[in-house]
Amino acid sequence: MQILHTLDEMHKLVSAARRGGKSIGLVPTMGFFHAGHLSLMQQARKDNDLVVVSVFVNPTQFGPSEDFKTYPRDMDHDARLAESVGVDVIFNPSPEEMYPEGYSTYVEVERFSKGLCGASRPGHFRGVATVCLKLMNITGPDRAYFGMKDYQQLRVVQRMAADLNLCVQIVPMPIFREPDGLAMSSRNTYLNPAERRAALILKKALEYAQRLIDEGVTSADELRIRVVEFISTEPLAQIDYVEAVDPDTLDCIKTLDHNAVLALAVKIGNTRLIDNTILKV
Ligand code: PAF
Repeated sequence: MQILHTLDEMHKLVSAARRGGKSIGLVPTMGFFHAGHLSLMQQARKDNDLVVVSVFVNPTQFGPSEDFKTYPRDMDHDARLAESVGVDVIFNPSPEEMYPEGYSTYVEVERFSKGLCGASRPGHFRGVATVCLKLMNITGPDRAYFGMKDYQQLRVVQRMAADLNLCVQIVPMPIFREPDGLAMSSRNTYLNPAERRAALILKKALEYAQRLIDEGVTSADELRIRVVEFISTEPLAQIDYVEAVDPDTLDCIKTLDHNAVLALAVKIGNTRLIDNTILKV
C-alpha cells in the first residue's frame, strides 16, 4: 500500500490507473479508523480495481469553536488497518496542499445544508461539499462510499453529484454499531466511561421512536416531543435536535404516513453525537 501526500503524486497514479482501464473506488475519511470505515473500504475493495482512501481532517468543515485541532489522528494505526483490508493507496494531503494561499472557491448545496446539523454548524456542509468535490476531482473515482450515520452529509453529496453532473456513483453504506448499539464514530474516543454509558440513550431513543410508531403514533410532533422527553431522562444528555424528516428531501414531516428518517444530535458532556434511523411506518 502506498501513502501519497501530494496532488502531483495522485495525478500520476490516477492517470496510470485510467490508462490501464482500472476502475477506482474512493473512500473519503478524516482518519482515526473504526470498523465502520473498514466496512466502506471492504465494499470498495469488492467493487473496484483500485481503492483510494483519503485521510484528511478538513479545516473548512469545522466551525471556529469546534474540535479541528483536537480531532483524533493516528496515521500509523490507520495505515495498518487500511492495508489489512486491501486498500491500495492512502491519500493524506496537508491543509496547504488542499487549500493553498489564495484559495477562494466553495460549493454550497443550498437545499440540504441549512437544517438539522446545518443549523447548529453553519458552513459545515459548504466545507464538506467543497472537500468532497476536490477529492473526487483529484482521485477520479467511479464510485465513492459514504456511511449513512451522516445521513444529511450523504444527501448533500448525492445532490451535489447530481447537480454538477459528476460521473461518480455515490454508494451509501449502513451504519456500523458497537455491540451495545452505539453508532461508531471517531468522536466516541472523547467519551469518559460514564459518558460512554450515557451515549447509549441515542440508540435507545431511536428504538423507542419505532415502538411509538408501531403503537400507532402518527403525529410527527407527538413523536418528537416524546423522544425529547425520553432523551431528557439521561442527565448527561443535552439535545441539539430531534427531527423526523422525509428521507429524500430532508423536509420536516407532520404526519408519519410514509417512511421517515428520525435524526438526532445530542451532546453527551462536551461531545456532540449524531445518529439516525429509517422509521418504518
Ligand atoms: O464524514 C467524514 O469523515 C467527512 O465529513 C468527509 C466526508 C471525509 C469530508 O471531510
